[in-house]
Amino acid sequence: MGNMLVTGGAGFIGANFVRMALERTDHRVTVLDKLTYAGNRANLDSVDAEFVEGDVADTALVDALVGEADTVVHFAAESHNDNSLRDPSAFVHTNVVGTYTLLEAIRNHSRTRPIHFHHISTDEVYGDLPLYGDERFDEHTAYNPSSPYSATKAGSDHLVRAWVRSFGISATISNCSNNYGPYQHVEKFIPRQITNLIDGEPAKLYGTGEQVRDWIHVDDHNAAVLAILERGRPGETYAIGADTERTTNKQVIELLCEIVGGSFEHVADRPGHDQRYQMDAAKLRRELGWEPRYTDLRAGLEQTVEWYRANEWWWRPGKADVEKRYALSGQ
Ligand code: NAD
Ligand code: DAU
Repeated sequence: MGNMLVTGGAGFIGANFVRMALERTDHRVTVLDKLTYAGNRANLDSVDAEFVEGDVADTALVDALVGEADTVVHFAAESHNDNSLRDPSAFVHTNVVGTYTLLEAIRNHSRTRPIHFHHISTDEVYGDLPLYGDERFDEHTAYNPSSPYSATKAGSDHLVRAWVRSFGISATISNCSNNYGPYQHVEKFIPRQITNLIDGEPAKLYGTGEQVRDWIHVDDHNAAVLAILERGRPGETYAIGADTERTTNKQVIELLCEIVGGSFEHVADRPGHDQRYQMDAAKLRRELGWEPRYTDLRAGLEQTVEWYRANEWWWRPGKADVEKRYALSGQ
């Protein structure tokens, strides 16, 4: 039984990951999370993991926690593009300096015993694809990030590769497409629309809504991360995407309006809005035998809507503030 340190384990994907890792592996899990506005201790209710509240950029704390781990899975990040357009500073701190701090701790402890680092990243590091066409991102696509968020994630990926090559640490990276599912913060596209519609408010579509995202259920993402931890090759990068049918933001909103009931309105567009993301996860499927389980977006959304209906206590407290912030930018 090994010790796994999970950073950002009180956030959306991290909390779902901790639950899955405890169910499917025999690791002991320690979570390091700063509990920013996006972290919620309740996401780990009745979960058998040690919880440490703290910053991934805190050198002494991180060195001590890494010193007790065999595996570190790094989810902690500032994750929302719209926030990075309002104020990028926390993005540089957590995504760049935080990742650097972890890498230095890994380097330090790797001198005396094996320790593996898995870095959770995003398809946004590649920029965007033309709206119409069949191109996809894969592990060889050149980096071309658009927003402060994606630029800091790109920077963190480069740091990981440099620490592998220059210092010989053992690390893997995964770049995943847009996740949806339980415990996603109401600032994000799908939960924002579900909760608006539950409240009898119109869903909010940026600009024309013809942009395309490559939706994947959070459990499929996390199953891929576990497959990489178990069978991935150190030093490698894996693209993660579920290959669901191409769906525009407008089509997703229309689906949600059908499922929950209600209508949508167009609001101000996001500056520099990326047009289309599409991942080619052939390497992950071929080498590690991973397959997504949620291949029907409508069914995955119906299940997610049910979760938000049943867990109003979870999302209600933050909802009004999020909407106030969006209103300031006409969104
Ligand atoms: P989230 O915003 O829901 O959660 C982030 C978590 O990190 C929160 O619990 C927060 O408290 C914690 N955190 C933030 N700053 C911290 C700091 N300085 N020290 C310690 N903890 C800190 O994010 P998410 O959507 O769960 O994303 C998790 C990871 O997955 C991120 O690295 C993100 O870039 C990546 N990712 C997300 C998606 C997506 O669709 N959401 C897709 C691909 C990759
Ligand atoms: O692709 C992976 C990325 O997916 C992750 O790295 C990010 O952490 C994650 O937040 C997500 O980024 P996006 O910017 O694609 O996701 P968001 O949920 O913010 O928006 C999805 C799409 O929906 C995008 O085209 C903008 C649009 N949108 C968003 C909101 C919040 C709307 O039309 N209306 C909205 O209210």
